[in-house]
Amino acid sequence: MARSGVTSRRKAEELIKKGLVRVNGTIITEMGVKVNPLEDEIDVAGKKILPEEKKVYVLLNKPLGVVTTMNDPQGRKIVTDLLKDIKERIYPIGRLDYNTEGLLLLTNDGELAYHLTHPRFEINKTYFAKVNGYVTELALKELRQGVMLADGLTKLAFVKLLKRTAKESSLEITIQEGRNRQVRRMCEKVGHAVSYLKRIRLGFLELEDLQVGQYRCLKDFEVKKLKIDCKLTK
Ligand code: URA
Repeated sequence: MARSGVTSRRKAEELIKKGLVRVNGTIITEMGVKVNPLEDEIDVAGKKILPEEKKVYVLLNKPLGVVTTMNDPQGRKIVTDLLKDIKERIYPIGRLDYNTEGLLLLTNDGELAYHLTHPRFEINKTYFAKVNGYVTELALKELRQGVMLADGLTKLAFVKLLKRTAKESSLEITIQEGRNRQVRRMCEKVGHAVSYLKRIRLGFLELEDLQVGQYRCLKDFEVKKLKIDCKLTK
């Protein structure tokens, strides 16, 4: 199911456990049932799954003011609206806030999406952040060593101080996790509201000369390397 782009592997397991998946009309509730996608008919909650479609991997420089969910009750612009010539149904790997700019990967490869977002596989994400005020050495140490947030202590982070004045500081922050609004919450917790946030790196991928709003497909060697880095293949 993950390979056919219907959902992530984790969610596929939940659907199976809930008895929503049928193979040739029979409900299955156990993991690991082998199917032949060309011969067997599989449906999820009555909806037929079509055979695997071509895998597409898109790297976008997300602009501000766009959501990374697939529909928005408030009617705001959706990230896939920007991908005019991509025919496949692809979805963002992880999320970036409405007010965050930068590197976003989108794909219909559910398995890769699962591995890239799972904390176990520890893919680094690097952000450029402008924050209010003068960030002290103590605040930097706290950011690096772990900040206690409502959903627990953050893991070790790499934090580079790029610039600081009494009014504003610029930081490069690398985290391994991908919790909701994590960088904003970490900075707020040490007393500095984020005024601008951009993801500049995901694993080895960088934006390079991709302008805001522009996108490109990943090259084969980049897909291979990503899979190796998130322990999907050797
Ligand atoms: N951390 C945040 O606070 N926001 C993002 O969009 C990404 C990481």
